[in-house]
Amino acid sequence: MSSRPKISIIGAGNVGATTAHWIASKELGDVVLLDIVDGMPQGKSLDLLESAPVEGFDVDVKGTNNYEDTKNSDIVVVTSGVPRKPGMSRDDLISINSKIVREVTENVAKHSPNCILIIVTNPLDAMVFVASKVSNFPHHRVIGMAGVLDSTRFRTFIAKELDVSVEDVDAMVLGGHGDSMVPLPRYSTVNGIPITELMDHGRITALAERTRKGGEEIVNLLKTGSAFYAPGAAVTEMVEAILKDKKRILPCAAYCDKEYDVNGYFVGVPVKLGRKGVEKVIELKLNKEESEMFQKSVEHVKSLVATTEKFL
Ligand code: NAI
Ligand code: 2OP
Repeated sequence: MSSRPKISIIGAGNVGATTAHWIASKELGDVVLLDIVDGMPQGKSLDLLESAPVEGFDVDVKGTNNYEDTKNSDIVVVTSGVPRKPGMSRDDLISINSKIVREVTENVAKHSPNCILIIVTNPLDAMVFVASKVSNFPHHRVIGMAGVLDSTRFRTFIAKELDVSVEDVDAMVLGGHGDSMVPLPRYSTVNGIPITELMDHGRITALAERTRKGGEEIVNLLKTGSAFYAPGAAVTEMVEAILKDKKRILPCAAYCDKEYDVNGYFVGVPVKLGRKGVEKVIELKLNKEESEMFQKSVEHVKSLVATTEKFL
């Protein structure tokens, strides 16, 4: 057994396998890839491992159908579930994915009671809530991935529009991971310059709308599934921030109670991510319009969560 961190990924489909690829290539730790399909996680893991000599990463990658192999993971990423098809919203997945996330979380909590859980399965904000209830982990160890993905989409569109390096573009997207998400132009910058000083209102509104519909744009192009490269990279950024205790400030679905007056739900907010998981929720000063959009998004998350109760 190595002394490297151990990251287990549940669901070896598009997002799971891509996340394994990014994590291994960045040498963040040993990876265990688990799926219910016999042979598939084993095959993908062996294939990825055989790229190690070319890429030069010294980590183990193991595929499995058995939770024993995930035992004592530092981080467990949950990607198991069904992705949407054209015409479906993320919310249409709630019934089938609630059952899957429930069963997976029970197994994960049994085998890795001290891990940090990163949930990816949609509808994201409701699935984080299910994982939190089922695991009974402290809230700072249950985190949803969405904001990093939504923000990287906004960043991409801003960089393309202004013809500047993606390295200089930062952006912030809050709220639930759905059509009511809240891109925040006032908190989006090019090397410190707010984009509101670099683009007119009409262009910013168009880029924000494209961000809100970013997942759907990919679904409509792919026709057989949803995005996975950018989601895998987004999860990997969170894993790196946690394992290296980097204290990154990243938008994640985190538990908010008094914060933003959310009263006990997981929603997308900026957090400090370090070795303990969510180490702080950062409260931004929102103006009236931003605050109204955020509250509307939170109301949507609450209504989604209400429909998961029968699965808890
Ligand atoms: P996929 O269909 O390629 O992979 C899902 C995998 O989960 C399959 O291999 C399947 O066999 C496995 N699985 C199903 N039930 C399982 C169980 N009980 N235990 C273990 N494995 C199980 O789907 P993809 O594209 O990887 O997406 C996965 C989920 O992530 C979807 O719900 C999708 O909507 C969501 N997603 C969320 C994003 C976000 O920003 N939060 C971004 C991208 C995807
Ligand atoms: C996305 O935004 C499917 O939620 C996923 O691409």
